[in-house]
Amino acid sequence: MLKTVKEKDFELYKIVEEELNRQKTGLEMIASESFVSTGIMELQGSILTNKTMEGFPGKRYHAGHEVIDKMEILGIQRAKALFGADHANIQPHSGSQANQCVYASIINPKDKVMGMRLDQGGHLTHGSKANFSGKIYDFISYGLDKETELIDYTELERLANKHRPKLIVAGASSYPRFIDYERISNIAKSINAYFLVDMAHVAGLVAAGIHPSPVPYADFVTSTTTKTLAGARGGFILCKNEFSKKIDKATFPGVQGSSHLHIMAAKTFTFKNAMTDEYKVCMKQVVKNAKKLSDALQKKGFRIVSGGTDNHLLLVDLRPKKLTGAQLEEALAFVGITVNRNMIPFDPEKPMITSGVRIGTTAMTIKGMKEREMEEIAEMINKVAENINDKGALDKIKENARDLALKYPLYHGYFDF
Ligand SMILES: Cc1ncc(COP(=O)(O)O)c(C=O)c1O
Repeated sequence: MLKTVKEKDFELYKIVEEELNRQKTGLEMIASESFVSTGIMELQGSILTNKTMEGFPGKRYHAGHEVIDKMEILGIQRAKALFGADHANIQPHSGSQANQCVYASIINPKDKVMGMRLDQGGHLTHGSKANFSGKIYDFISYGLDKETELIDYTELERLANKHRPKLIVAGASSYPRFIDYERISNIAKSINAYFLVDMAHVAGLVAAGIHPSPVPYADFVTSTTTKTLAGARGGFILCKNEFSKKIDKATFPGVQGSSHLHIMAAKTFTFKNAMTDEYKVCMKQVVKNAKKLSDALQKKGFRIVSGGTDNHLLLVDLRPKKLTGAQLEEALAFVGITVNRNMIPFDPEKPMITSGVRIGTTAMTIKGMKEREMEEIAEMINKVAENINDKGALDKIKENARDLALKYPLYHGYFDF
């Protein structure tokens, strides 16, 4: 790997090798991560990066577009077919920019928008004050019901009627349950608001048909091609035909300049990969593994937010173990299990501390792990939690985590590795 870089920039090469070794020997359980196929890496490193191209197929601002047009058309066709959408724009450089493009297409600065609270599962781009979304637009946040830890749809409806936003955003970064897209769509319709679903986390599960699709209900659907789609590091937008021109115009020239054609090709490959039977089997296993991990941790005395999971991630409340998210994240990282600290609903701790961790099963499932391995991982997590100050015990768990990771070599699992 990286033959030329090794020769010309050994310092940088060594850093990438070190990261490769970390990925090979660790248990990677960040919910937004996956291992992409070698096809994705080939395309992201391909000669397509040499071409500068603005505009859309047939309407370009640079000559020499004929070949590239074929690629973008293929990618658009595949995205539309995969999700059953009227229109697809595969130019957004990231999930955040996909959301920015939708906002730019239909609302104006200071307009009212509703989105899910960041500290209860939403994303930065759904109205956080630290993000462009919360600075430019007037966001009103909805959240969860304290008892069920599910979206409080009644409150969402009350807020929608009170504030009458122009747009309602659904979708989340750390919500383990299905979202009732139809219900929110009906609320949006009743106040004449647009409806955007950001399905970045669950897009792969939607593609595999094991998670409800937002496409029939939403005016706009945004996503990344990373996370459960397990592909290129970029974003895309789906929308109803009536919005196609507005979305394309908002993307270019509205928000972005030239396209990242090498990434666009990798997205095009991602969509094809997500149509295969092998991919669907893998995604089913991702969900089975998340459910198994959730059950196993629950049996060991952890509290699982909302009592379980419908998707690829779980939120673990660490208060029964008298630990914070920051403490467990650090101790797990020491033994080679990578998760992230995460606010639990109505968390009494600060965002940098938190009472919980978020755990995802996509990457380890792609490597080939199944329910039995999830039980082993739950056992390790529990041992870390119960021996957090015992260096000897942690060293032993580190060995076990490494052994388990090495039993499933990188690039010998699902897809075309
Ligand atoms: C729901 C959701 N939307 C958007 C994004 C942003 O994607 P990106 O990191 O590609 O900007 C994320 C990523 O964390 C996400 O979870």
